[in-house]
Amino acid sequence: MPGFTVNGTTVSVTEDQSLLVFLRETLGLTSVKNGCSEGVCGTCTVLVDGRASRACVLRTSRLEGKSILTCEGLSLREQAVYGYAFAETGAVQCGFCTPGMVMAAKGLLDVSPCPSRAEVKKALRGNLCRCTGYKKIIDAVILSGQLLESGEPLSAPVFTGQIGESLHRVDAVTKALGTAGYVDDLQPEGLVFGSAVRAAHPRARVCSIDVSAARAVPGVLLVLTAEDIPGQKIVGHLRQDWPVLIAEGGITHTLGDAVVLIAAQTRQALEAAKTLVNIEYEPLEAVFSPQDALKPDAPQVHDSGNILSREHLVRGNADAKIAASKYVVTHHYSTPFTEHAFLEPECAVAQREPDGSVTIWSADQGIYQTRHECAQVLGLPEEQVRVCAKMVGGGFGGKEDMSVQHHAALLAWFLDVPVKVTLTRQESILIHPKRHAMEMDFTTACDENGILTAMKAEIIADTGAYASLGGPVLQRACTHAAGPYNYQDIDILGLAVYTNNPPAGAFRGFGVSQSCFATECNLNALARLVGISPWEIRYRNAIRPGQSLPNGQLAGDDAALVKTLELIKPYLDANPAAGKTRVWAWACPTPGAVPFMWRAASSGCAPPPPASARAWARCACSLSVRRRSCLPRRWSGISRTPHPPPTRATPPPPARPSSPARPPAGRRWR
Ligand code: FES
Ligand code: FES
Repeated sequence: MPGFTVNGTTVSVTEDQSLLVFLRETLGLTSVKNGCSEGVCGTCTVLVDGRASRACVLRTSRLEGKSILTCEGLSLREQAVYGYAFAETGAVQCGFCTPGMVMAAKGLLDVSPCPSRAEVKKALRGNLCRCTGYKKIIDAVILSGQLLESGEPLSAPVFTGQIGESLHRVDAVTKALGTAGYVDDLQPEGLVFGSAVRAAHPRARVCSIDVSAARAVPGVLLVLTAEDIPGQKIVGHLRQDWPVLIAEGGITHTLGDAVVLIAAQTRQALEAAKTLVNIEYEPLEAVFSPQDALKPDAPQVHDSGNILSREHLVRGNADAKIAASKYVVTHHYSTPFTEHAFLEPECAVAQREPDGSVTIWSADQGIYQTRHECAQVLGLPEEQVRVCAKMVGGGFGGKEDMSVQHHAALLAWFLDVPVKVTLTRQESILIHPKRHAMEMDFTTACDENGILTAMKAEIIADTGAYASLGGPVLQRACTHAAGPYNYQDIDILGLAVYTNNPPAGAFRGFGVSQSCFATECNLNALARLVGISPWEIRYRNAIRPGQSLPNGQLAGDDAALVKTLELIKPYLDANPAAGKTRVWAWACPTPGAVPFMWRAASSGCAPPPPASARAWARCACSLSVRRRSCLPRRWSGISRTPHPPPTRATPPPPARPSSPARPPAGRRWR
């Protein structure tokens, strides 16, 4: 097989494979990230003979004589410069994209040491970042070029810790150079791979499951179905409605429901076994819109009915106020499901410890909830489940729920070897909860001067197949639907409705972005009727300190909407086209963007953690702040001491069992 060099060392490969897999799993060069395996995201960028290339689409058989460079092969000077420049410019958040950005930058700077911004943009066009925005990354590349060109020595930055000082993220350098630890980077000795066989129908009865052929595949260690689950068979943060595996005789709720779990020594054996699982389905009528799901004869997604939650907010007499108002607008708005598109697909590693407890390394957004639900699935007391938070390569709400953690834990529980479960990009998009699609009817009224008088709304949220955080999302959509304005008569009805669509749950803004879209569009329509500008109608109605919001909340002294509108006015006046396109551009200085950000900033929500895990902060008289939190690090600057990776020497994988190797007697089951 062909030989080539990787970071200056000659290697040879015995079988043709993806360069990405070879670099990560054979050579352990985990700075090369796997965001999609399809040549789209750029997280796997390496240099091949000096040119930035995507390792996931290169085959080792075609690399004869080539020279491959990864972040690990950068000179010490280059590592220092790129680490410093990306930290100094604030170009690192979750960090999953950053090593790929660094390699794309090196590919450019090696041939163009002082590039223009346009050149940098062009060089980075194949590299996606979901967190940071590209301006700071471009700044980082330009600063890197200047430092490399000048040869200027770098001294360690000194920070005083004073409030207002611009600090380097504590993890910026390790993230930039690819040494920060993400779950998929873990490769403990004896690691095996797990994956789920997923439902091919959004709503169907699972008539039979035949796993005999899958079990016979060499290298397959374990095949599990729902009946093998030792503890609770359903998970869910707030409402437990999400089956760990769909049982024989059970009904699927959406495409991609997990039906069978398989663990194998190699990925090849795993994929081969998955294709050999034979599941017989009886397809059933499904519902794909809340309108259909609310019909009296609609198929029931869950036995509890198709309505997950209902909100009705009433203050004053909206009907009477609307009838007496000079101007009234009524419009229907539809917003779609939205994918989070974090660059790191879901991944978990789990292993059973010698004392019978289970350790899970996870990249989710709430490790205590993960521990709680995994313990329930395993039938263990929580004290026997330990969850270690690794770096999170972006989440944005999409990593709140169980996705792979419980599956990895289950497989590890039956096997005395560590198990890794990683979703492909397609699986990730298929199964994790999205931003809710909403159908909204909004009526808003004002007097002849544009002073708001009342509003009515009906909000129907498609929560898909599972509850996830659909209840609180609907609540936020409704409680924020009247906007940050000073009027008192509202009538807002909200329903979160189950369908057989993918589940919907948390996403930045938490339901507020959808209802805000409707509110602000209606406000623009009213401004046109009154004959004033979109800015003016907001300024006249903006909530001021001491006033009461339509939902009854009192605005404190720090309510700064008026001040914010005054601050953006010069920019708005200088850009008369802003806000006039039909595209809703929240990042532009449109007057509608301000209320959105005002509301989104106050809409955060998460399942209540156990008391022991609640964040606390203490301000000492020195004005330093000490903070403890159960929140895993992710995009927003949260960071803390990492848990150690799995290091226990593990025995070789056991022989393939003909049936699940159940835990020994005496172990606690539920
Ligand atoms: S482009 Fe290679 S992993 Fe996405
Ligand atoms: S920092 Fe770029 S994807 Fe998160």
